[in-house]
Amino acid sequence: MDQFIIEGARPLRGSVRVSGSKNAALPILIATLLTDDPCVIDNVPVLLRDIRTTLRLLESLGKKVELRGNSVRVTSKGSLKTQAPYDLVKQMRASVLAAGPLLARFGLVRVPIPGGCAIGLRPIDIHLQGFADMGARRIADHGDIILSAPALKPRRLRFTFPSVGATENLMMAACAVSGLTVIQNAACEPEIEDLGRFLNRLGAHVSGAGTPVVKIRGTLRLKGCRHCVIPDRIEAGTFLLAAAATRGNLRLLGAEGRHLGALIDKMRSGGALIKAIAGGLQISMTGRPRAVAVDTAPYPGFPTDLQAPWMSWMCSAQGRSRVKETVFENRFLHSAELARMGAQIGVGGNNAIITGVAQLHGAPIMASDIRAGAGLLIAALAAHGRTVLQRVYHIDRGYERVEFKLRRVGARIRRVKR
Ligand code: UD1
Repeated sequence: MDQFIIEGARPLRGSVRVSGSKNAALPILIATLLTDDPCVIDNVPVLLRDIRTTLRLLESLGKKVELRGNSVRVTSKGSLKTQAPYDLVKQMRASVLAAGPLLARFGLVRVPIPGGCAIGLRPIDIHLQGFADMGARRIADHGDIILSAPALKPRRLRFTFPSVGATENLMMAACAVSGLTVIQNAACEPEIEDLGRFLNRLGAHVSGAGTPVVKIRGTLRLKGCRHCVIPDRIEAGTFLLAAAATRGNLRLLGAEGRHLGALIDKMRSGGALIKAIAGGLQISMTGRPRAVAVDTAPYPGFPTDLQAPWMSWMCSAQGRSRVKETVFENRFLHSAELARMGAQIGVGGNNAIITGVAQLHGAPIMASDIRAGAGLLIAALAAHGRTVLQRVYHIDRGYERVEFKLRRVGARIRRVKR
């Protein structure tokens, strides 16, 4: 398990190029299961562990995958399998997204039930209810779910919560079903909008992706296409917060400001100067931030995936701030690690109260998931002294070449292979 050794308290200065969005690329790659024609996906963050796992999933289901730079070409080499291996689903929950395309195309799919993870139980009941509403029968067998439906029916679906994964899964399924499916209370994340664009290029008729009501008119024959993935708003947001926490000045090339509205508003309230520049965003920050309260919420609210990075910035705020986590039930594991660095954080239920301190100090700490890891990385970059950050593999799931990108803008960070 690799470690990062970080000598902190150095302002980040210069330019960073934002990678393609992991959370957009994952469902788009999986949606290539909807067609036998070749698809080329550009701007894929191919170095990420989760993307590698997705490519392995496609191969295990019978697709051929070729990489050229950050483009992925997916072709068919025969008939597809309808069983997703447990080994891959346990490494990456998003593998469950293969259920929608496979069920809709072949009338049968077998997927392992993904277990809980460090941030919560993460059930898939909304996905399953959607498939059931479209006429699928479900049998549980040895930890797997088998879904069968000789022909899914187009339906009007109403989600109990705007789940990102369920919206994607049901959108993909509906594309291969003749007739009109409507998803109400759909998730509105930009990644869903990007998936909608991809599905339209395949020949489906999707409207409203990125709004609470998505309409999908499916067809039995989808074709291949070429698509370029949107920039990663969570990576961009993480770098904005890293720049602010280190009191730096950073240009984020490729960052899409309109996907980061909630974060940028809150960061401005905290005292960061953020402006749009040609092809990206620029941030500068001097001194300690003002204390600002944040509640996470589905898009366009404040992203839960930036909650830990945000908390690291607020650790040095002047005064007392509050973070309320409304999306996941157990997403404060990073707070105990931040406390080892001198942060003052009290957690009660889904609220954290952070009393700002003048300076964090380096310490041995450990990442528990991708975004907790990103938050701890920011704290380490801001802290005085040396931090040893363990379980870097979590960070590698979501941030491409993060230590190279950080070193280029002045961070002292090195990876120790173990
Ligand atoms: C996606 C993102 C993840 C992000 C999350 C919320 C990907 C690959 N991952 O995850 O980075 O943190 O959106 O923005 O895109 N829920 C249920 N039943 C369900 C589905 C979800 O109760 O059937 C609950 C979950 O347990 C969680 C909440 O709804 O508490 C949000 O989950 P969801 O929006 O589905 O997130 P993911 O798609 O898993």
